[in-house]
Amino acid sequence: LIKAIKLHESVDSTQNIAQRLAEDDAPQGTLVIAEQQTSGRGRMGRKWVSPSGKGIWMSLVLRPRLPLQFASQLTLLTAVALCRALKTVAAPLDIGIKWPNDLLIGGKKISGILLESTAEDERLKYVIAGIGISVNLEADDYPEELLPIATSLRMELGRPLDRADIIAAFIIEFEQLYNVYQNEGFGLIRTVWEALSVSLFKPTQLKTPTGIVVGTPIGLDESGALLVKLEDGSLLPIFSAEMSPLSD
Ligand code: BTN
Repeated sequence: LIKAIKLHESVDSTQNIAQRLAEDDAPQGTLVIAEQQTSGRGRMGRKWVSPSGKGIWMSLVLRPRLPLQFASQLTLLTAVALCRALKTVAAPLDIGIKWPNDLLIGGKKISGILLESTAEDERLKYVIAGIGISVNLEADDYPEELLPIATSLRMELGRPLDRADIIAAFIIEFEQLYNVYQNEGFGLIRTVWEALSVSLFKPTQLKTPTGIVVGTPIGLDESGALLVKLEDGSLLPIFSAEMSPLSD
């Protein structure tokens, strides 16, 4: 799958570099990696802390032959691949997936995924899968307000990790899952995602674009939507939302 790796010292965002390459017909499997991002971005317009040499900031160009609405399955697939890779390289840390695609250790975020897709006639033209992994950041790399909710593999393990090992492990896992997905569809990814998830079976509040939903997530449906059991026992599929525990 990986065709070319483009290494940069400092960029605004690897998403922008990868997008420009994709617009210039870069093939699927072009991977952009930067030591530092000056305007790393996260979901919901948030900033992504990306100090030099301390983490993995990378974006992968994909060209799946899929209808637009399948992009969310790719997000879930990326989270599964990354979670598996990190569980191997950073064993014995207990790493789980918070829906849809944050990786957490003990409730604190260590990695995030940002999928940006471009479509033509309702079909995906290309997808840029952006992956941020807080590998060797230390407490003073974070703004104070993030410390209660963010951590790094180094802070959790008590020793630094080799970033190349993590990138290699991720590529292996991603390649394998992407092949399974293309040949067999979403079924296996769905099962593995559910097994790695820390978001299921707990009463939850979801801020969706159309309002607040309160219920208990019980799994994914075949499209990749989160199935939430409401108080009346009915199941509601949720496609996009901000999730927080009910006690918040
Ligand atoms: C999130 O959790 O909100 C998603 C964070 C995604 C961060 C990565 S770092 C590499 C790529 N470039 C960016 O600007 N963002 C993604």
